[in-house]
Amino acid sequence: MTINQLLEQKLSAAIEALYGQQPVGQPLQLQPTRKEFTGDFTVIVFPLTRLSRKKPEDTGEEIGQWLVANTPEIKAYNVIKGFLNLTLDSACWLNKLNEALDQPRFGLKSAGPDAPLVMVEFSSPNTNKPLHLGHVRNNLLGSSLCRLLEADGNKVFKTNIVNDRGIHICKSMLAWQKWGEGETPASSGKKGDHLVGDYYVAFDKHYKQEIAALMEQGMTKEAAEAASPLMAEARGMLLRWEAGDPEVRQLWATMNEWVYNGFDETYRKLGVAFDKIYYESQTYLPGKDKVLEGLDKGLFIRKEDGSVWADLTAEGLDQKVLLRADGTSVYMTQDIGTAALRFAEYPIDKMVYVVGNEQNYHFQVLSILLDKLGFSWGKDLVHFSYGMVELPEGKMKSREGTVVDADDLVEEMVTTARDTSRELGKLDGLSNEEAEAIAVMVGLGALKYFILKVDPRKNMTFNPKESIDFNGNTGPFIQYTHARIRSVLRKAEASDIQLPAAAPLVDDLSEKELYLIRLLNAFPDTVSEAAQAYSPAVVANYLYDLAKEYNQFYHDYSILKEENADKRTIRLLLSELTGRVLKNGMGLLGIDVPERM
Ligand code: ARG
Repeated sequence: MTINQLLEQKLSAAIEALYGQQPVGQPLQLQPTRKEFTGDFTVIVFPLTRLSRKKPEDTGEEIGQWLVANTPEIKAYNVIKGFLNLTLDSACWLNKLNEALDQPRFGLKSAGPDAPLVMVEFSSPNTNKPLHLGHVRNNLLGSSLCRLLEADGNKVFKTNIVNDRGIHICKSMLAWQKWGEGETPASSGKKGDHLVGDYYVAFDKHYKQEIAALMEQGMTKEAAEAASPLMAEARGMLLRWEAGDPEVRQLWATMNEWVYNGFDETYRKLGVAFDKIYYESQTYLPGKDKVLEGLDKGLFIRKEDGSVWADLTAEGLDQKVLLRADGTSVYMTQDIGTAALRFAEYPIDKMVYVVGNEQNYHFQVLSILLDKLGFSWGKDLVHFSYGMVELPEGKMKSREGTVVDADDLVEEMVTTARDTSRELGKLDGLSNEEAEAIAVMVGLGALKYFILKVDPRKNMTFNPKESIDFNGNTGPFIQYTHARIRSVLRKAEASDIQLPAAAPLVDDLSEKELYLIRLLNAFPDTVSEAAQAYSPAVVANYLYDLAKEYNQFYHDYSILKEENADKRTIRLLLSELTGRVLKNGMGLLGIDVPERM
């Protein structure tokens, strides 16, 4: 039984005994006591005055007295206005500490055979360019969400949809044909996704020049864009692709393969992986079939030019094209096909799409369309919609080739971590290999933590300098706290201090020790809360509080030098559990923690 459950049970018993009734329909309001008051848990008394028909202060007094008299775990109470603060017995907390110490995976549930299956889609890049800062936020949120859902007892299936066909990749292909002179990743030493991205940029550059030249001859911008021979050629290439032209298909397969090798490397560096990757080239035709089926059933309309539309005006939205006049499919068509395939292949209970908030409308429409098509799960799809991320220097501009590239960013973070750690002497006495492993851990930890500590819905600025500070709400601060704890425990071992499996049940724990146990005890609920709110930030900020609290404790008390053996044992076990929670918690954010630094 958790402490919360125990208190709820006792509170109900108190109300029954004192007022002869149950607080039906009125959930008991119980929360951790705020730091400025004495107590561990606070009962909000106001709603209970309806049952007691007494003033809140008197009601609180009565319940408090009853609880202390009838609950060995509750040691004392005080009433402040309508708040009843309860103080638990030290032994009760120490028992909680011991229960937690017994569980190597403390705070993390495992999925039983009947656990729901949640499919989470994230990353979902296009194959015409490398991953950028926006994808980094997507990948980090997506993989952390998967870990959280798993830790909350769900089965999780990680998936990705790669938009591998369409005009965008044809632009890169055309530019490569025209100006590539046979360049390959092997011949140039360039990472494949970067190479293909460079040709996408080259296409855009030539296209802009073309438009400028046409406008100089007196055309309007729209007319010039419509007349652009380069764009016409790219469109022609897409048609040939759709028709299955072997030469175009061959080039497409080759260049996409370069891109996938590049993506794989970036995913590996970020610690991101998938159970299954879907490709638009395999889902857009099933999507088209579904749309045509819908047309037959009278769900959609065909316009005079042959295009197929969904009329969503009854839903308060507008009309949405699903097949163009020339029969080619659009982004939405592919998503219908992808969803239908996924649900046919797996017994999915919930589908979550991790996609930026600029696509809110798209997912609103997708949900309605799937529902119309008779997929009952369409209504309940979850769009995990997150905000933009920028650098302090300003916006990312993808067209001009000045995006914040994911690979560059990771490399820069590791370099900064190496330099900063060296300056601070944190790598002293380590072998080169160990030092390098720590630089990677700290660089990535800084990046991941800084991005994940922010509410996913909010826009944010990623500040590399701030993220690597060892003294703030940062990944490296928490990593350092973990290393500090491990060092204490190593020293204990080296000085032959025997650590029993359980703490002795003393009754004179200090306030800071109690508070630390209280925080540790809140870890499992924090994980559930984060999973249910789809917010890794909840775990991140909890870990910061815990690390801060531990450091104060470390600063204020002696651990190894404590002469009272019971106290020393408790402090060491508190250190042990704090280290475990920091490690498990950072693991949920995809962040490794070092043993030393
Ligand atoms: N590839 C798309 C883009 O880069 C994102 C795909 C999101 N997922 C989806 N099922 N539509 O904008």
